[in-house]
Amino acid sequence: MRDILPAPAAVVHNEMQSIQERFQKNVIPTYSRFDVALERGEGCRVWDVNGKCYLDLGAGIAVCALGHASPDITAALLEQAGKLIHVSNLYYQQPQGLLAEQLTGLIGPGKVFFCNSGGEASEGLFKLARKFGHDEGRFEILTAENSFHGRTLAGISATGQSKVKKGFEPMVAGFRHVPFNDLAAARAALSPATVAILIEGVQGEGGVTAATAPYLLGLRQLCDEKNLLLLMDGVQCGHFRTGRFQSFQRILEDAGTADAAKFLPDGIAMAKSLGGGFPIGAFWVRAPHADRLGAGTHGSTFGGGPLACAVALKVLQVIERDGLAANARAVGSFLLAGLTQVAEKYPSVLRQARGLGLMIGLELAEKIPAFAASEKAAAIQFVSALHQAGLLAIPAGSKVIRLLPPLILSRADAAEAVSVMESVIAQLSV
Ligand SMILES: Cc1ncc(COP(=O)(O)O)c(C=O)c1O
Repeated sequence: MRDILPAPAAVVHNEMQSIQERFQKNVIPTYSRFDVALERGEGCRVWDVNGKCYLDLGAGIAVCALGHASPDITAALLEQAGKLIHVSNLYYQQPQGLLAEQLTGLIGPGKVFFCNSGGEASEGLFKLARKFGHDEGRFEILTAENSFHGRTLAGISATGQSKVKKGFEPMVAGFRHVPFNDLAAARAALSPATVAILIEGVQGEGGVTAATAPYLLGLRQLCDEKNLLLLMDGVQCGHFRTGRFQSFQRILEDAGTADAAKFLPDGIAMAKSLGGGFPIGAFWVRAPHADRLGAGTHGSTFGGGPLACAVALKVLQVIERDGLAANARAVGSFLLAGLTQVAEKYPSVLRQARGLGLMIGLELAEKIPAFAASEKAAAIQFVSALHQAGLLAIPAGSKVIRLLPPLILSRADAAEAVSVMESVIAQLSV
């Protein structure tokens, strides 16, 4: 009987397929993932499970500041893990205080609270604002259209994009959105309940749009005049990505205005590159408000743990030691110049390259014939084409691609990125 039954169809199983199947069966499908499964990395390169190498211009969405498999990070992890991985915030420990000291040194007089992610850092700023306005009944925070502030319930309420809110209404009360880079609109939107204004120095998810210097200075003046907190989300654009620790420092430096050096917001959210890949978030609060969140008002079990803080200290040390802020500035402008030339050559595919330092946005042309056959957004199709060519990049919305590479990206890496990108774009333009 056995002999006469047809043999079962051979199941061709590669590793990629089994990884995807395991995800489909077991992982809640909140992310639409590309068909890439990564296995290892070194510097600015990563390899997938089939051994294909990619130049990583995404760095885990602006996270892996020192690249992949950094021996400095590994050494810091091992050294601290051999002493203490975790202690409760019921006790003091060395790394958290040292890191807070360094961060205030990089920003200005104030204090820092530690948490684990950008969403949690934004939440801390929302609570700071609520506490600030509480006794006067003020609670409303103005944020920008197209902004992104995280996926918690208050984070999506703060985010100025309807797609993240859909299906989760009602939103947390007290957030309203105003056009970005429009000071008059912010002034006009104020109500007696307004307590703070929150913006990103460079909008990331919203498509890589930098705040202008007059907008930043104008918001500071407006907040002083109306007794509001000026809050900045530096989760994506911070940590030397633009060539200065915070993007507002770079924007104001470029503008060369006399008031620039005196500018400080009242609160800054940080995460992503802060730990170079090890999860850590933080928010800094300017001195007059730094003790507003007193004992018992806020907390996080893992926040500021010694392992995360030891790694974040190492990341800062390496950025300083290796001149990575200057590198981000120089290689970033080289990359931007190269991509601008490509955009000038192929306007039917690439409308514009823009950005600051190693935070670059590529805006695609309105209708790219090569993408017409698929329902997928142009940005997704473009990123998939880059994958084929061995580059990792990150979509932002439907028509912008973000380049957020490790701060160690070399000029040779950048030249390679431009050349690969140009060949992909040349093919799409025919
Ligand atoms: C500007 C900004 N804020 C907040 C967040 C949320 O950070 P996380 O995903 O670490 O919660 C992000 C994440 O992309 C971000 O870009």
